[in-house]
Amino acid sequence: MQERDLREEISNIKNEAIAQIMSAKDVSELENIKIAYLGRKGKLNLLIKELKNIPGDERKHTGILINEAKNTLIEQIVNKKNAFKESARKWFDPTIPGHKPIVGHLHLITQAIREISKIFEDMGFVRVRYPEVEWDWYAFGALNFPENHPARDDWETFFVDALPSPKYGPMILTPHTSSGQVREMLMVKNSPIRMINIAKCYRRQSDVSHVPMFHQFEGMVIDKGISMVHLKGTLDYFARNFFGSERKTRLRPSHFQFTEPSFEIDISCNVCKGKARLPNGQGCRLCKEGWLELGGAGMIHPTVLINGDIDPNNYTGFAFGWGVERTYMMKSGLEIPDIRLIYSSDLRILRQF
Ligand code: FA5
Repeated sequence: MQERDLREEISNIKNEAIAQIMSAKDVSELENIKIAYLGRKGKLNLLIKELKNIPGDERKHTGILINEAKNTLIEQIVNKKNAFKESARKWFDPTIPGHKPIVGHLHLITQAIREISKIFEDMGFVRVRYPEVEWDWYAFGALNFPENHPARDDWETFFVDALPSPKYGPMILTPHTSSGQVREMLMVKNSPIRMINIAKCYRRQSDVSHVPMFHQFEGMVIDKGISMVHLKGTLDYFARNFFGSERKTRLRPSHFQFTEPSFEIDISCNVCKGKARLPNGQGCRLCKEGWLELGGAGMIHPTVLINGDIDPNNYTGFAFGWGVERTYMMKSGLEIPDIRLIYSSDLRILRQF
């Protein structure tokens, strides 16, 4: 009885092990099977301990069966290991050239921001960032905008659906980086300031030269004795380094609530080369007049200095705010005819930069 059971058990264990070996997926799985069946405490060795209970001849015969089962399993495991090695060889041929991963690159506006930062940092400016979701006070009130100024209504500005602050007014998406001016003054306090604030701005505009989300870079210098000469010198240095000496810039008198006097800075258009007409006789769709407005500038209004806790009798300063996209579009050698292409996610455009 005992002897017949053992034979059957040997056969079952052997078949079970063979099935597991066949379906093993890797060498480590094979190792585990080996330990489970052939190891010191493996299923077959445990059966050997039972041999002492079997009489004479039959014991010998059962012992032979156990050994045969062990040898079969060892052979199966070795074969399976060789099969793994063989298939690994088939799949890995080190002489076949590898597949190159597709490597992307920084978006052209990120590249532009880095280039702009570098030029100003070389002049001693410090790059800062202020909130894009901003209070009306920092974007308008502190900058001398009257209550009924058109920029403040929702034709141009995005209002955030949040409770207005009793002190700072409604919450908005900042329409310009000038909202960082008073924040920087309050942060640095009376010390000399050389700030370059580059951030996203939002306005309800979309056409060939406007996008609803764009970037501005805002420079601000405050110290004793700062004058228009410093402003002109700084902007000229930037224009020469960024655009090259062949491009022309001009200062045009203008008006901003927070600077006095105020200017618009223009640069000759790169698409029509400042002629307002294309070689085929058509008018330039981008600039229409040969010049493209880069942004505003001026001497900081005394009221703004006071709002930033700075004494206008001791300190003066200048500020300027230009659009990153427009500035980049006017770079020599680039002919981007529509600002919206920058954010179109069209790889045929983006790969060119
Ligand atoms: C301003 O935003 C002032 N804060 C600039 C300033 C700063 C003046 C400091 C004085 C002192 P303006 O609205 O003109 O000014 O915008 C400045 C520039 O931002 C524009 O000349 C243009 O280059 C860019 N810009 C404005 N709106 C858009 C838009 N919707 N899409 C792309 N660029 C824009």
